[in-house]
Amino acid sequence: MKMPTVNTENGTLFLHPDRNLAMELVRATEAAAIRAVPFIGRGDKNAADKAAVDAMRKFLGTVNFDGVVVIGEGEKDEAPMLYNGEHVGNGRGPACDIAVDPIDGTSLTAAGRQNAISMIAVSDRGSMLDASSVFYMDKIVAGHEAVGIVDIRKPIGENLRALAKAKGKPIGEMVVAVLDRPRHAQLIEDIRTAGAGTRIMLDGDVAGGINAARYGTRIDMCVGIGGSPEGVATACAIKALGGLIQGRLVASSDDERQKGLDAGLKFDYIYEADELVSSNNTYFVATGVTDGGLVSGVRRKGPTIHTESIVLRGRSGTVRRVIGEHLADKWIGELDFGNVGDHA
Ligand code: FBP
Repeated sequence: MKMPTVNTENGTLFLHPDRNLAMELVRATEAAAIRAVPFIGRGDKNAADKAAVDAMRKFLGTVNFDGVVVIGEGEKDEAPMLYNGEHVGNGRGPACDIAVDPIDGTSLTAAGRQNAISMIAVSDRGSMLDASSVFYMDKIVAGHEAVGIVDIRKPIGENLRALAKAKGKPIGEMVVAVLDRPRHAQLIEDIRTAGAGTRIMLDGDVAGGINAARYGTRIDMCVGIGGSPEGVATACAIKALGGLIQGRLVASSDDERQKGLDAGLKFDYIYEADELVSSNNTYFVATGVTDGGLVSGVRRKGPTIHTESIVLRGRSGTVRRVIGEHLADKWIGELDFGNVGDHA
């Protein structure tokens, strides 16, 4: 007879299987993605974000957990919903930290471009780094082969050569995802000088990071300065993938630096995965808003709305794909939702 797996975490024995919270949270990212569809390509990123926020919050309220938003839509006075510090869930379950980005890629959504996702990351209460006072983080993300070999302190060329060797492929086949920003001009040049190719992303470095860490994708590494909240959320996903993530906070002004210091954050310091999120009991879920390399976007097929989501769990190291087929009539009633039409 096959015995259940026994693992230890913090000295506590636990048996698989137990509850995968993300399998319930996926309803909230599905709802946010579906609700954003009428705003795809309509040029109004705030309206898209608001629709996704409203839907996500409504569904979060039905999930059995006691969540506190560590990374949300901003401070209470500027965000009426899903603000940092807000309690979400029905309050009856595990005490958790939660990072939400109802749409990572609001500009992509508004422009009708690819790679926008709706995402939620969760970890044990008190384990998520609250980096909300500092907007940007310099990050490096790669798969399990990079652990102990790649280091953000080293020049990018050196890291790429080491990772190529560890992966057993020529550097000419390495592909690095980088956000398309003027601040990355030198980085992009250095990657290309090292002999690797780039995958330039207009937005959305959470999906870029996850694709860099997943086995068997065309992305080998994701580097550069993006949002620090996105870095913490990505770390929750990396716990399930067994890859590497490091982050270094980047202050945009003296004032922001001081705010970060006041909040207990460190500069000129490398945050490892366990400092970005100290628990291994993490969950990450993302649903495609528009089509992308991680997940397909929402689309209408006859009477149904189709969604694709990815569900990751740190403790068990599982990655699942969840395909949703939602009867459109039900959603129109429940969410006061217009016709989503066909989206490719
Ligand atoms: P939002 O859609 O939530 O605004 O974030 C998009 C994004 O591209 C993130 O994926 C990334 O981390 C961040 O913005 C980069 O910030 P900036 O656009 O200021 O360079």
